[in-house]
Amino acid sequence: MHLLSFRRGPSAVGVVFILLLAPLAARALDADAAQALVKKSDCLKCHAVDKKKDGPSYKEVAAKYKGKPDAEQRLFTHVTTNPKVKIDGKEEEHNSLKTKDEAEVRNVIQWILSR
Ligand code: HEC
Repeated sequence: MHLLSFRRGPSAVGVVFILLLAPLAARALDADAAQALVKKSDCLKCHAVDKKKDGPSYKEVAAKYKGKPDAEQRLFTHVTTNPKVKIDGKEEEHNSLKTKDEAEVRNVIQWILSR
């Protein structure tokens, strides 16, 4: 935007901000979609939001990564590359989310990190 356009007054600027930012806010987190994908991907077999099962609760994961700038990238790798994890002393491949859509993966990560 050319700086001079600010001279048209605050209303024009306000409209531009609403047009640019409202869709971003709407896309920030879709909790229903996140829960549906987590369910479809069998994550709940080993995870719950606030109770430890074979895997840590998502609240625990959120607490562990709170304030860490690389949280999203690390969890992205964790839920897309089937890393080895130990379950009852036995190595197993960790599940990946059942989607090829990166935005859907990021949505689940945002959901986990905001528990
Ligand atoms: C067979 C059991 C099992 C299933 C199914 C499973 N997980 Fe896990 N998950 C684990 C275990 C065990 C850990 C702990 C691994 C560790 O800390 O080494 C873990 C860790 C995690 C973590 C934290 C990783 C970290 O860096 O601290 C996230 C996030 C996660 N799982 C998400 C998911 C998602 C999303 C799914 C579904 C696609 C899923 N898990 C399915 C067992 C499972």
